[in-house]
Amino acid sequence: MNAGKATHHFIAKDGREVIFRPPRWEDLDDLLGFINSLVEEGAEILRNQKVTRDEEADWLGRKLADMAKGNLFWLVAEVDGTVIASSELKTGTGYSSHVGEIGVGVKREYRDVGVGTELLNALLSHAKTIGLELLTLTVSSSNKRAIHVYERIGFEETGRIPHNLFKNGTYRDSIIMTKIL
Ligand SMILES: CC(C)(COP(=O)(O)OP(=O)(O)OC[C@H]1O[C@@H](n2cnc3c(N)ncnc32)[C@H](O)[C@@H]1OP(=O)(O)O)[C@@H](O)C(=O)NCCC(=O)NCCS
Repeated sequence: MNAGKATHHFIAKDGREVIFRPPRWEDLDDLLGFINSLVEEGAEILRNQKVTRDEEADWLGRKLADMAKGNLFWLVAEVDGTVIASSELKTGTGYSSHVGEIGVGVKREYRDVGVGTELLNALLSHAKTIGLELLTLTVSSSNKRAIHVYERIGFEETGRIPHNLFKNGTYRDSIIMTKIL
């Protein structure tokens, strides 16, 4: 797949046109703004510290290399030329080569209009194309919106690590969800 080439156009529930495509090096500042906006709002992700531009550049370089090696399928969503969401499917190695791990995030002002679900469906479709048999993900027990979206596309809870997260003075469980393809 050519880096940066559009793979999919989608009209969100609010009428905005969303382009799904693989990321490219030029997305560095958008991706930096994206992750730091999630940290700033206290989104239900593991990271709780903002990222510097240098850290993001190192990270992006590694991820683009993983994509080139074929270990990672990564799609960003773009609206009006800006990255507003990101999703990835990481293929397992060794005895877990048939398993994929997925992750997704959408900028706050673009949520609840179908972008997350559409991105996840694109990951599912790719996972089937490359012959994966099982998908896994981890989500905080307090992330009701994400759990709703994951269940709707066929994931179910298959594991739970009690008190694995501590946020705003409260413990939350990490829920492991899986979907057999
Ligand atoms: C979770 C996330 C990826 C979902 O993406 P999205 O684009 O908002 O999802 P969609 O618009 O496709 O669907 C959202 C659904 O959740 C529902 N929803 C919203 N808030 C909810 C809540 N508190 N409880 C249950 N469902 C909720 C919406 O009604 C919608 O369902 P519907 O289509 O049946 O009406 C996105 O909200 C996000 O990035 N959140 C912050 C980061 C994050 O949590 N990432 C996942 C970490 S595991």
